[in-house]
Amino acid sequence: MFLWGTATAAYQIEGAADEDGRGPSVWDTFSHEPGRTREGHTGDVACDHYHRWPEDVALMAGLGVNAYRFSIAWPRVQPAGSGPVNARGLDFYDRLVDALLEAGITPVPTLFHWDLPQALEDGGGWLARDTAHRFAEYAALAAGRLADRVRMWITLNEPFVHMAYGYAMGIHAPGRALMTGALPAAHHQLLGHGLAVGALRAAGAEQVLITNNCTPVWSASDAAADLAAAEAYDVLHNRLFNDPVLIGKYPDLSAYGVANLDSVHDGDLDIIAAPLDGIGINYYNPTRIAAPSADAGLPFEDAGISGYPTTAFGWPVVPDGLRELLVHLKDRYGDALPPVYVTENGCSQEDVPGPDGVVDDRGRIAYLERHIQAVRRAQREGVDVRGYFVWSLLDNFEWAEGYHQRFGLVHVDFATQRRTPKASYAWLRDFLAAAED
Ligand code: FCB
Repeated sequence: MFLWGTATAAYQIEGAADEDGRGPSVWDTFSHEPGRTREGHTGDVACDHYHRWPEDVALMAGLGVNAYRFSIAWPRVQPAGSGPVNARGLDFYDRLVDALLEAGITPVPTLFHWDLPQALEDGGGWLARDTAHRFAEYAALAAGRLADRVRMWITLNEPFVHMAYGYAMGIHAPGRALMTGALPAAHHQLLGHGLAVGALRAAGAEQVLITNNCTPVWSASDAAADLAAAEAYDVLHNRLFNDPVLIGKYPDLSAYGVANLDSVHDGDLDIIAAPLDGIGINYYNPTRIAAPSADAGLPFEDAGISGYPTTAFGWPVVPDGLRELLVHLKDRYGDALPPVYVTENGCSQEDVPGPDGVVDDRGRIAYLERHIQAVRRAQREGVDVRGYFVWSLLDNFEWAEGYHQRFGLVHVDFATQRRTPKASYAWLRDFLAAAED
């Protein structure tokens, strides 16, 4: 069965930051620091999904999706990132899973969508090797409670974005700007992934995936310097996270002045390359790369993409980039590429309800339709794609952008928490009703 789903993440929708024993995460700390997020927005309340989840499950049932990708908040399960389980935190996901199954919706939890318990960050966060071991312990606790009903699990969400935005550039929590000093955060996340695969399987998980953010990398020209820069960017964004997981080795990082990653110990790559049942791919747009200007500290420069429509975020809309990416993954990894699930794809728009209350987001309808067609083309070209999840079910807390980028199929009025399905919701419902897989 092809999985048609929606995707969300705990910190972006749940709210209830202090309830039922939840501990603080790096995103609570970061969003409460002045100047970190647009207008100082935080996820304290977000979509109040922690209380309104029955309504949200009903919205998904009405949409007709057969899968839901959500994330489990580690600080609800282990408020300090280690030690005993907080049963009340897991109770929430237990109820959610039961309600989803009752509605015929396959639950697909992600264990880490960037909300590291603050106590672990205080000990070095993902720069510390110990965090990988703590992650596996947490995975065992979550699966120990849920794996009797949850068959498919995702370990990490987008370790590239978490490393780059959180540890290299300081745009996301935990707000560190270490540039290449952030690389241990890549390795320790991947090690945590590998250790968690073992823990999940031991607890009875049947299918285990990782979700990587991937981008087709376009060189700004055929000049050798631009081609080399594009290759360096591909290494950082795509290969650093796909190669170790799929083929058990790191790509050549010499463009970054790194001969070997010091944080890698003997045996780590065997753990990281534990066989998977699928790979989650999040796709938003391609990236066009040029050689860096003389004073740049990195071996590439983002040259920007013009000639395409853009989302409210300013991201270029290139549906065929999804086909290109999927086919490229198949070409690069061959039989080492497990079945692919597009675990996020979607667009932000300035959605405002009209006087009749209708949100006529026809741009999103066109976006989704064309990206789904791109998935179909990739399938015809031989890529084993088994799922497609729209980001997102609800308008939500979009990290550093606060509540400014609306990605939902359902509009959320953040003052009243009123949910209003947009035109794209009705379109997807009709599309799914007619879909043959
Ligand atoms: C992805 C994140 C997701 C959401 C979308 C727009 O990088 O995984 O949480 O913010 O971007």
